[in-house]
Amino acid sequence: MKTTDLPRIETQRTILKLMEPQEADLMLTFRMENKDHLMQWEPKRAPEFYTLPFWQAQFRAAIREFRRGASLCLVILSKDEQEVLGVCNYTNIIRGTFEAAHLGYALAQKHQGKGIMFEALESSKGYVFDELKLHRIMANYLPRNQRSCALLKKLGFEIEGEAKKLLKINGVWEDHIITSLINPRSC
Ligand SMILES: CC(C)(COP(=O)(O)OP(=O)(O)OC[C@H]1O[C@@H](n2cnc3c(N)ncnc32)[C@H](O)[C@@H]1OP(=O)(O)O)[C@@H](O)C(=O)NCCC(=O)NCCS
Repeated sequence: MKTTDLPRIETQRTILKLMEPQEADLMLTFRMENKDHLMQWEPKRAPEFYTLPFWQAQFRAAIREFRRGASLCLVILSKDEQEVLGVCNYTNIIRGTFEAAHLGYALAQKHQGKGIMFEALESSKGYVFDELKLHRIMANYLPRNQRSCALLKKLGFEIEGEAKKLLKINGVWEDHIITSLINPRSC
């Protein structure tokens, strides 16, 4: 598979890129190690989620989606690209009068509290605004997710309201705080 057209973003401590199917084992390790840590913040996962074929298919789909302009699903890797530190996914990209995407992210438990996600989102939002030229990034968080709240605030996201029963997290429809960040160069 030719992948030279895919984004690859270097930050001070990480590499952000779309992974290739042959790298699925690194993601599986991340998902297995962080199963309990992420369960409370994410949708309920089917058993296949914790298998290599799932991630191989997922990476193929992510590359296809990027090429047709529907999403940018970045994996946050260590500099040597031997460890997945987390993910930041810009999905549901809609053009036209909207020019917006949803942002979702997750960091390995052992890498929390180091500013890694802040670093990854600072750089990737630059790509989303300057290269993809989107106008708005939208992010939603559970009111009890204080780390996520602090992170979005630091990045400049503004609270726009609260949506009732917005997302099904770990099997339960949950209210979320709605935030967004507008591209300063698109106004
Ligand atoms: C939400 C989540 C990504 C936040 O991770 P995080 O490590 O707290 O976020 P940051 O990268 O902004 O790091 C901030 C922390 O790093 C510290 N830090 C250390 N060095 C830093 C640096 N160079 N730059 C910035 N912050 C730094 C900050 O003081 C802060 O620590 P504190 O919270 O103990 O005060 C993470 O908790 C996570 O993945 N949670 C589970 C999944 C989840 O909630 N997803 C989002 C759903 S909406």
